[in-house]
Amino acid sequence: MSLSVSLHDSEESLLSAPLVAIALGPDTRLGVFVNALDTAMGGCVSRAIAAREFRGGRDEVLHLTGGAQGSRRVLLVGTGTPTQKVMAYRRAGALAARRAKALGVPALAFHAPGVNTGYELEAAVAGLMAGPWEYAALKSPVPEADRRAALETIRVVVADAKKAKAAFDAGVALGEGQAIARTLAMMPGNLCTPQHLADTAKAIGKRHDLAVTVLGRKELEQLGCGSFLSVAQGTPQDPKLVAIEYMKGKKGQAPIALVGKGVCFDSGGISIKPAPGMEFMKFDMSGAAGVLGAMETIARMKLKVNVVGLLGATTNMPSGTAINPGDVVKAMTGKSIEITNTDAEGRLILADVLGYAHRYNPSVIVDAATLTGACVIALGHHASGAFGNDTRVLDEVIAAGKRGAEQAWPLPLWDDYKDQISSDVADLKNTGGRPAGSVTAALFLKEFVPAGTPWVHLDIAGTAYSESDLVALPKGPTGIPVGTFVHFVRGRAS
Ligand code: BES
Ligand code: MN
Ligand code: ZN
Repeated sequence: MSLSVSLHDSEESLLSAPLVAIALGPDTRLGVFVNALDTAMGGCVSRAIAAREFRGGRDEVLHLTGGAQGSRRVLLVGTGTPTQKVMAYRRAGALAARRAKALGVPALAFHAPGVNTGYELEAAVAGLMAGPWEYAALKSPVPEADRRAALETIRVVVADAKKAKAAFDAGVALGEGQAIARTLAMMPGNLCTPQHLADTAKAIGKRHDLAVTVLGRKELEQLGCGSFLSVAQGTPQDPKLVAIEYMKGKKGQAPIALVGKGVCFDSGGISIKPAPGMEFMKFDMSGAAGVLGAMETIARMKLKVNVVGLLGATTNMPSGTAINPGDVVKAMTGKSIEITNTDAEGRLILADVLGYAHRYNPSVIVDAATLTGACVIALGHHASGAFGNDTRVLDEVIAAGKRGAEQAWPLPLWDDYKDQISSDVADLKNTGGRPAGSVTAALFLKEFVPAGTPWVHLDIAGTAYSESDLVALPKGPTGIPVGTFVHFVRGRAS
């Protein structure tokens, strides 16, 4: 069942919905639409607020039913007193739509009287699409008798639809891109294979008329991508390096490169991971999924900009042909790498994808990767780690994340840590020990960034996927880093 989201600005469009959700903070003025709704419901909204039954706190939800006129139902959804309104409205939209789905109503109308910027509305719309998302493809359908109505339409009601149209459309484009990314991250590794990521890229290319290049093992051998191939040498699946070119900017203008880690399953290889929780390592392609989702959104937004999306996809498996700790390989750029831990495979893949990015002479490279468990220890699940070789561009990416309701926090990329990845037998080794594991991983990547190219690395290990229910979103993929990628690119479009 697909969800259709539309934009309205009449009182009628709000009042006639079987369920109306209103997002309010503690001090939000109700405005004309909510006053009209309140009147139609015999004053139950204002009464609930006056009696402090609803206080507008974050994640607070009050379900009111049965007004003076029939069985109208209202959800009051709290935003809290947000330090970041974009985050708060994304969350409120997601929570409202998730509840609406659980209640089994086919249609929801949503209104947030406190929204006053385009980014806030956009975030609310993307949130409305994110909240009811689920990956149900592999579950048997609920028996007819137990089934609730599926949520099929969401009306977003604003004061002036004409003024809000661009932001609304952007929100839908973001929602669609994030849904693609989340579906890929949620799909089990036996379905979301490197081939499937390549096929998804081709489908996006076909939909929007973009050139897509897919290189397999043979082509990677010809290019000398010994680092990427060392990860893929233990798996029978053909690794894929995928490039999607969106060239709707000025002719000849250097493109932005978006790069993603696409490990469809990370067992650790010979340095095998412990069994508990290993199933989550299907999510290790979330960076690549983010690139694909972002390319979909960018194309839907028809941004005037040149962007190349690049991803390196494989699985990391132990086998008789797998790479061993102590082995030395050579990356495309010519650097030799001693592999001290085969579980530090993301950086080995990205080394060659970054090397490959060289041919596009990108103006800037932003990569996203579920790169280190150490980043989860450092920042938990509420911020991605952000690293860069250019402070201004690093700040630009972090600011883009804020506009997209995705938080990132800077970590150092100082040479002081570099000794940790120096090798006795090769130019560098792929692990730097436990201290500052995210920093040494980022420093490793830096060695493969084309000289003089501004570059930002996002470690999304803690943010791309949630193993617990997030209230507004279910367990599973969050859609990060699609919002950050898209807002960064949009910020540079003409
Ligand atoms: N994909 C993992 C990173 C990861 C681990 C993400 C746990 C989320 C949760 C990555 O490939 C990895 O295994 N990294 C190692 C690096 C180490 C061997 C230097 C890690 O973090 O343990
Ligand atoms: Mn690993
Ligand atoms: Zn990994």
